[in-house]
Amino acid sequence: MSNLVLKGDIVFTPDKDSFKSYKDHYLVAEEGRVVGIFSSLPVEYQSYPIKDYSGKLIIPGFVDIHLHAPQYPNRGLGLDKELIPWLNTYTFPEEAKYHDLDYAERVYTSLINDLWRYGTTSCVIFSSIHKESTKLLMDLFIDSNLRAYVGKVNMDRNTPPELCEDTEKSLLDTEEIILEYKDKSPLVKPIITPRFVPTCSKELMEGLGKLAIKYNVAVQSHLSENRDEVDWVKNLHPDLEDYASVYNVYNLFGQTKTIMAHCIYNTPEELDLMEKNRVFAAHCPHSNYNLSSGIMPVRKFLDRNIPVGLGSDVSGGHDLSIPRTMVAAIQASKMKWLNTNKGLKPLTSSEAFYLGTKGGGSFFGKVGSFEEGYSLDALVVDDAKLGVKDDLSLEERVQRFIYIGDDRNIVERYVEGKRVDMPYRQNIPTMV
Ligand code: GUN
Ligand code: FE
Repeated sequence: MSNLVLKGDIVFTPDKDSFKSYKDHYLVAEEGRVVGIFSSLPVEYQSYPIKDYSGKLIIPGFVDIHLHAPQYPNRGLGLDKELIPWLNTYTFPEEAKYHDLDYAERVYTSLINDLWRYGTTSCVIFSSIHKESTKLLMDLFIDSNLRAYVGKVNMDRNTPPELCEDTEKSLLDTEEIILEYKDKSPLVKPIITPRFVPTCSKELMEGLGKLAIKYNVAVQSHLSENRDEVDWVKNLHPDLEDYASVYNVYNLFGQTKTIMAHCIYNTPEELDLMEKNRVFAAHCPHSNYNLSSGIMPVRKFLDRNIPVGLGSDVSGGHDLSIPRTMVAAIQASKMKWLNTNKGLKPLTSSEAFYLGTKGGGSFFGKVGSFEEGYSLDALVVDDAKLGVKDDLSLEERVQRFIYIGDDRNIVERYVEGKRVDMPYRQNIPTMV
């Protein structure tokens, strides 16, 4: 890692309430970390390599904190169903294919290319139950120079036979991956991934919680996405107060850093526990629309200071793009506002941008902002062709890019101060 200066129109959200913007400034990084933003370059940095992006926007790389790698081929399929029938008819049959490493490689290289293309420089991702293709996905991320948490899925009940793991083997495979990958790469880390309560026995959850604590490994799962799912969990665990408590008794709810996807139907007590345990919520509006799941009350989470990031939730979500997920989150929050008699205020554009950058990025540490000490994970955006108006503020230009721009406007990606090129060029891009 080296030192670097990026020159251009710099915009980011150090807090959710406002954009910070610096026209024609210098963003300086040492050893991949931001040291400051300057209107003229101080003499001590003048020997650093300078990349001149004058007239272009420089924004933090996007962060997707919830998606499923093996579901990538299923985008746009089966979305007339709700969660549980969709899992059974589309998702599980697709995920059963990933014992085949050749198939896994084809899918995973095209997925990583497309994450790169859309400017998602960090993600938190589920693989399938398969140990070898999970390792392949981790190695492909390592070679890509993008940042990721990757989790081998655990499931040992209420699951079709080809995806139903032996509990002991599920735990052993998970431990093997943790040991092999916990120190292998600074950018790519393992994460413990019980799929969700209905598909994980008590013994499995207990074992996974022990592994999380023993190795201090992060955890991800799903929580309160769909009403039928919440009822199912109540029937499976009638002795416990609520869905969150099931994870909590097994040390899978903030005992190590944790992300729960969806969080649409949480009780006030569950929100108290998320706040207390610093559990992240992954807000996945496209998925919630597609599977008729509901609208997450994201304002309640922000008001309580529960950490929130955005998730594409491919393939419940059809779209890998975090900017388009930001727009969907804003739109969903506006419908929620109307449906609560103007009770829960809609998201502003700076709040949505924050969620898709620093909000989710804080799961990784100092990621998603350009404050001092943050990793220089940046996108360079050429927005010149997005319209004829040339009297816009930097903030308006970012808003316009989020709403009407796309991957074609992103001209460079940086992670920890290093330019990242398209990882798997030999693969024909799948996206339009
Ligand atoms: N709940 C359990 N598994 C899944 C999944 O694969 N996608 C979504 N959206 N919800 C889930
Ligand atoms: Fe999901």
